[in-house]
Amino acid sequence: MIYRTPDALDFRLDEIPSLPRPRRVVLTTPTHFDVEYVINPHMSENMGSVNKDVAWQQWKAVRATYAALDCAPVVANGRSGLPDMVFCANQTLPFYDPDTETRGVVLSRMHSEHRTDEVPYYAQLFEEAGYVVESLPDALNADFEGMGDALWHPGRRLLWGGYGYRTSIEAYEALGELLDVPIVALRLVDPDYYHLDTCLCPLDAQHALLAPEAFDETGRALIDALFDTVIDVPDHEARHQFACNAHCPDGHHVLLQEGCEGTNDQLRAHDFVPVELDTSEFMKSGGSVFCMKQMVW
Ligand code: ARG
Repeated sequence: MIYRTPDALDFRLDEIPSLPRPRRVVLTTPTHFDVEYVINPHMSENMGSVNKDVAWQQWKAVRATYAALDCAPVVANGRSGLPDMVFCANQTLPFYDPDTETRGVVLSRMHSEHRTDEVPYYAQLFEEAGYVVESLPDALNADFEGMGDALWHPGRRLLWGGYGYRTSIEAYEALGELLDVPIVALRLVDPDYYHLDTCLCPLDAQHALLAPEAFDETGRALIDALFDTVIDVPDHEARHQFACNAHCPDGHHVLLQEGCEGTNDQLRAHDFVPVELDTSEFMKSGGSVFCMKQMVW
């Protein structure tokens, strides 16, 4: 079932089957990371401008932070000719079915041909690690960019699905059937917020960070209906410092780009602990912490 308006919501969150937090984190080395083409507005001024040494230092700090939070990272290697491969949240959507204990991933259908060849690499990685690897139906003509646009509600088998730039709404019809989960679809209306993970960050079952400018009124109402506390992030911090591309792996610590002071204050006020990381080299390509990792069960 795809929910597109607040009136259509015919369930309470506590009626949705529960889902444990994923505990394993996949990270991909920035070995061949650079800005070599422009497929989102953040990349346009940054062609060829990545400082490789700085990118490596920043990536290592991300890896160390996850290790310190008890998420031992599984590291994949970046591939030559695939400069965006480091953003390993985008090529798959991991899933877990507690009833059958099935661990799997659904493969993405990248919107840009520049990124299409990243997907088979991750398919192989997860297959070799024993995950069920699912694809959307062959006949379906729809884009889908994994956890760039599809986010699990923490603790529930409920998906939030952003669409409009990289993922098409039709993908969610198919995904809802494939995984047998309800999906709340959110239209994205501002190209700076081209993926849902740039503008909505579910922190725990009750709290989310939000960039209000990214959504229409209907989307905002859907988010308000299912999260008790929605923390609006200052537009500058969300748009230019990727404050919503944050990640809360444990319901407590929030890993985010350093210097988002308004967001940090709000997080502390709600008893979260901001963990600041510098991802400035990756922001040149339009991504920060959230898209630099993939959580799997
Ligand atoms: N350059 C990449 C792209 O535009 C960045 C992806 C960042 N990922 C994200 N989930 N926001 O595809």
